[in-house]
Amino acid sequence: MHAELIISDGQVVDGSSAPVFGADVAINRGQIVGVGDLDDWNSNVRVSAKGKYVAPGFIDAHTHDDRLLLSSPDMLPKISQGVTTVVTGNCGVSLAPLTGVDPPPPLNLLGGRDWYRFDSTQAYVEELEKNPAAVNSVMLSGHSTLRVATMNRLDRPADSRETLAMEALLDAAMEAGCVGFSTGLEYPPAIAASEKEVIRLAKRAAVAGGVYTTHMRNESDNVHLSIEETVRVATGAGIRTVISHHKTCGKRNWGRTRETLSRIREAQRSVDLNFDVYPYVASSTSLLPQYLPHADRILVTWSDAHPELDGVELDVICEMWKVSREQAVEMLAPAGAIYFQMDETDLRRVLKFPGAMIGSDGLPSDRFPHPRLWGTFPRVLGHYARDLGLFPIEEAVARMTGNTAKTFGLSDRGFIRPGMSADVVVFDPETVIDKADFGAPIQAADGIERVYVNGTLTYHECEWTGNRPGQVIKAIA
Ligand code: ZN
Ligand code: CU
Repeated sequence: MHAELIISDGQVVDGSSAPVFGADVAINRGQIVGVGDLDDWNSNVRVSAKGKYVAPGFIDAHTHDDRLLLSSPDMLPKISQGVTTVVTGNCGVSLAPLTGVDPPPPLNLLGGRDWYRFDSTQAYVEELEKNPAAVNSVMLSGHSTLRVATMNRLDRPADSRETLAMEALLDAAMEAGCVGFSTGLEYPPAIAASEKEVIRLAKRAAVAGGVYTTHMRNESDNVHLSIEETVRVATGAGIRTVISHHKTCGKRNWGRTRETLSRIREAQRSVDLNFDVYPYVASSTSLLPQYLPHADRILVTWSDAHPELDGVELDVICEMWKVSREQAVEMLAPAGAIYFQMDETDLRRVLKFPGAMIGSDGLPSDRFPHPRLWGTFPRVLGHYARDLGLFPIEEAVARMTGNTAKTFGLSDRGFIRPGMSADVVVFDPETVIDKADFGAPIQAADGIERVYVNGTLTYHECEWTGNRPGQVIKAIA
């Protein structure tokens, strides 16, 4: 037997939670063609992975990389973590289809007016296929983007004409290859949307075989009501549903993941429900007054009015200016922030939940980003699995590969098996760890040795190889 490439003598963590096993992995024409003892195969290239783990390329279940794929096709924050596929368009925000507006928060997290220049998802796909990135992408169509594109006012539910217009845009987006529909119901552009509106749109995505992901209306005092709403949407639309970045925010809600996870477990008996989670006790998004009450500490990640204050703590700014937090927020706008507002015990409970998916929720436009952008996956592997023993490495890998591929319907990704696309990461189990932290957030992780996307090497010796083999994965038939 012959293969272009054999990664030999590694320990395979295959993405299914099955115990790690020693094997060679053969890759030919972008596919995994053999797994096992392949000593008698010949190959053009043989790479030793002795002492290393060989895993499916990590799938970042929750990203805001719509623009980054085009503006920085190297995708260094992701490939340096072993990520080979990113799910874009989360939290109701996708770059397409929208043109000719100054994007309101949180749409401006992706970029300004000049980046919102795709009048259809198809136009975005064409540009990305013309200028491919180093990673694959899987697209969601964002509800808030559809609202901004079709409504003259966002502080009310859509009327029937607007809903029809959104349905048409969503149908076209699904046709162009989106795998689903996302909402950001906590954010100003969508907070006035009715549950009925969301169900109608989610139904369109369901008809096309899609998934529904939701940044819920509330993740603090009313998180229980949000989960009920999410279950009703999942049921009403008959759609596989993902709760985004699951957490309970604010000290008085610490410990409530016991309640939310048991409700999710119960709901799973009747609906297809899952969630993604990032491994940090601080969140990050636009700097908005609604988030102030629940956060102990707030760090400014960017401010267009005061770029010199990137990375500075909000309370320090208040002190300096002799103003309240609310006044400071007004003076810094538009801006982004990191909010310390979750509990470590809750975080571990959520990470451990069977079937959970890891998603970075990284914000690549931020000048002083939350460290999750560069650190999420190695942090789960090195800190939570190896150092703390929260779960075996096989479980950690499944949460970033097999679980995610299954949830998003990526039938040829997420596992090291013959027939799968050759998205593969080779990492050192002894040294893998995140280096980015809240003081110095732009740092590549340690221990990620080789990353292959569709059989092509993208990251090696701590550098991008210059290859851009990423594809737009259109999973839905
Ligand atoms: Zn979100
Ligand atoms: Cu998000």
